[in-house]
Amino acid sequence: MCGIIGYVGPQQAVNVIVEGLRRLEYRGYDSAGVAVGADGRIEWRKKAGKIANLDAELAARPLPASTIGIGHTRWATHGGPTDANAHPHLSADGRVALVHNGIIENFALLRAELTAEGVAFSSETDTEVAAALLGRALARTGDLAGAMRRVCSRLEGAFTLVAIDAQDPTRVVAARRNSPLVVGVGDGENFLASDVAAFIEHTREAIELGQDQVVVITADSVEVTDFAGRPVGTKPYHIDWDTTAAEKAGYDWFMRKEIFEQPRAVADTLLGRYSGSGELALDEIRIGPDELRRVDKIIIIGCGTAYYAGMVAKYAIEHWTRIGCEVELASEFRYRDPIVDANTLCVAISQSGETADTLQAIRHARDQGSRIVAICNTNGSTIPRESDAVLYTHAGPEIGVASTKGFLTQLIACYLLGLFLAQVRGVKFGDEIGAVMDELAAMPPKIQRVLDGADDVYGLAHQLIDQGDYVFLGRHVGYPAAMEGALKLKEIAYLHAEGFAAGELKHGPIAIIDPGMPVFVIVPPAGRDQLHDKVVSNIQEVRARGARTIVLAEEGDTGVDAYAEKVIRLPRVSTLLQPVLAVVPLQLFACELATALGNDVDQPRNLAKSVTVE
Ligand code: F6R
Repeated sequence: MCGIIGYVGPQQAVNVIVEGLRRLEYRGYDSAGVAVGADGRIEWRKKAGKIANLDAELAARPLPASTIGIGHTRWATHGGPTDANAHPHLSADGRVALVHNGIIENFALLRAELTAEGVAFSSETDTEVAAALLGRALARTGDLAGAMRRVCSRLEGAFTLVAIDAQDPTRVVAARRNSPLVVGVGDGENFLASDVAAFIEHTREAIELGQDQVVVITADSVEVTDFAGRPVGTKPYHIDWDTTAAEKAGYDWFMRKEIFEQPRAVADTLLGRYSGSGELALDEIRIGPDELRRVDKIIIIGCGTAYYAGMVAKYAIEHWTRIGCEVELASEFRYRDPIVDANTLCVAISQSGETADTLQAIRHARDQGSRIVAICNTNGSTIPRESDAVLYTHAGPEIGVASTKGFLTQLIACYLLGLFLAQVRGVKFGDEIGAVMDELAAMPPKIQRVLDGADDVYGLAHQLIDQGDYVFLGRHVGYPAAMEGALKLKEIAYLHAEGFAAGELKHGPIAIIDPGMPVFVIVPPAGRDQLHDKVVSNIQEVRARGARTIVLAEEGDTGVDAYAEKVIRLPRVSTLLQPVLAVVPLQLFACELATALGNDVDQPRNLAKSVTVE
């Protein structure tokens, strides 16, 4: 959601900024803009729509040469996606330009106060209110950092603010509360951005910022203070993603590329965490064994795809550890007065590490005394920083808005965590852990085999393109996998799709089955799983009502053939691990169907990659 970049250094700011905005496109946006400081003035361009519109505007009306500037991709909250509402916004006197991510909750009050003082606004945004306040404070103090601190003390809600002062072409000033911001430290140049993708082609050195901090960058310095102006220590880190990881490498979509990267992403997430001796080594879980042994409840929290990963994790963690495990949508969690205490382990799953609902949920759990383990893909992001321990997934940057490799690696991390807890608590022995680890180690080539069958799935997508509704069924861990398959189709194909627990079918959902409706069914492994035959019965039930049945079943399971219009074969795995394979054809199906429909697969309408507001 909203991408921000600030730059100061020897390069032409507009080029660095627009290129950075392009790399932030994946976060989701509906307008874009840039401002530079030149000759004591602020000059800016901003346009509704994609960055191509901003490019055209810049070509028609180029900005003056400048080595300092800020840029923004906006995902509309206050006010529609228009040119006027696009960022940057200027203070009433035109001296300050400001970009903002987040929501200022008391903006109506502040706007009324400023309007009463005679300030006129040209947009409907909360940001313009902050810009007006900043301009007013700067006129009084003459110091942008001091003015920023003063303004922050008046704002409620979540915000990252980045500003420049027309009269000071040497520094960019930013502040953050509950919204992402990182510093990129270059050689004679510095950057501020919502995430490292914006500046990774210029530098791999970064600094994490904490809550309620103000940062001032010049070309060769970075100064961080709290909102009271006291200097605070910083935490530099090296970004180990390489720039090519964020390129499409010949694929039409980042999403398709990321689906095909899954064998590597899964292998990387397993790397170095198991020695083969029967002992899992998760050094990252810096919570002592005694404390882990006292855990009597696990609550897994996430949103969207991360929530579905949590649903799968519940089956595995309960089965392996015998600790009761709940899964909760982060957006619901803290508003229902959950029962959480010092013996509760809270597991927060988040690819971006910036999802506002998940962040607020872990803060709530922490306030009740719970310990927090984050499962996250983004180094330096807020959720891991506010957790007691973090298990990083090593998926590499996920650019496509619809999560794919993020999901598979979250599953792997959840399995690792479940086995680790079982090991610490002594309820699983080395040979049992070793058997699951061997199976996990064998997953990358199995995922590759599913990917090798992509053409077959693509053919299916073209056959089923003109259907209105799609149903996905599964039991046990196949149920969240079915939900994830349906979510992918909703997100990028904009089609109505529902995932159901197959056992629930007769309790209602079967009524919607129309002749010709595509129904995807995930079948548990044959022979070794008691639910297999029940799911086969469910296939027969929908088939009897005219559904077109697409059955995902393991290799050699011929028991499903008679009831399937199409069988997609999955390599053999144990039930708990099956979602790692079963979701892959569903990702491919959604990606191909959305492509055939002419949709923007990487940046689907209305969606943002990183949902940084509640
Ligand atoms: C689905 C998707 C979203 C995210 C959700 C949580 O494809 O991308 O549902 O999974 O917004 O995001 P993170 O994992 O970044 O917290």
